[in-house]
Amino acid sequence: MEAKTSKVAIVGAGAVGSTLAYAGLMRGFARTVALYDINKAKVEAEALDLAQGIQFMPEAKVLGSDDVAVVEGSDVVVVTAGAKQQPGQSRMELAGATISLMDKVMPPLLEAAPNAIFILVTNPVDVVTYAAIKKSGADPARMFGSGTVLDSSRLRHQISQEVNVAVGNVHAYIAGEHGDSEVALWSSATIGGVPLTEWVDENGVVVMTDEVRQRIHHDVVQSAYTIINGKGATNYAIGAAGARIVEAVLGDQHRVLPVSTLVDFAGVGEVCMSLPAIVGRAGIVQKVEVRLSPSEHAALASSARSIRETAVKFGAE
Ligand code: LAC
Repeated sequence: MEAKTSKVAIVGAGAVGSTLAYAGLMRGFARTVALYDINKAKVEAEALDLAQGIQFMPEAKVLGSDDVAVVEGSDVVVVTAGAKQQPGQSRMELAGATISLMDKVMPPLLEAAPNAIFILVTNPVDVVTYAAIKKSGADPARMFGSGTVLDSSRLRHQISQEVNVAVGNVHAYIAGEHGDSEVALWSSATIGGVPLTEWVDENGVVVMTDEVRQRIHHDVVQSAYTIINGKGATNYAIGAAGARIVEAVLGDQHRVLPVSTLVDFAGVGEVCMSLPAIVGRAGIVQKVEVRLSPSEHAALASSARSIRETAVKFGAE
């Protein structure tokens, strides 16, 4: 009898799926990593290329197939398959194409791995996650989106550059939509235990002024557009972020991550959007009640409305 070890399936062997697999394998996030894609040549090639590097990574087995059976027995299924954002195109513009793709892709995955935690990465991730939960009837604690984990790492990177402090000592979240209406939660942000808005440089001058915060928020929102313009797709940071979410689940790490979960924010109606939550082996273990300023609250309500509008328009329910 084979020993029970952890298995992660990654659906979609494109730039995001393959990089997520690479990032996860480098960190040793699972004993078996299965790539599944309808493009047989591509998925087999990505799996072979990854497998041939295993000597230099923590021990693992890499599978790649165009047969959904490769997903069977997975503890976590990460869905990255979908339409690709073109230069200048917003994530929301992909909604029609990806929702109909998910209608085809999700049922066989749920059948192959009925006990898995499902993490959706495909854009527009909030709408896709909502549609996936509604159509499958899955427990929302066990099906959620990568949300603004990436945007929050972008935010923390920018802040870290601005104040010249290690990114690990910056605590700050982007919440709401993973997209144009996302909201920076400045009022709860801290740098080395100091409220972000009170952080001063060596001359005692406040660094994170309104102007600086606006510029950083703008740059974070524009990041994907900037990267897509330059290289056609984003893959490294989303791959690393996705691998981190999987690790939090498989390691039952109870890590606070702004993942996209089913909420009814401020009476807007049900949507999936990101707010910090504790992620562990059971999926969403607990939602974190972050203190919001009135303007952050209003901006999140407006972000929720914009996600809901797209979800309703494309019949995500
Ligand atoms: C990004 C894509 C993954 O923000 O939405 O890079």
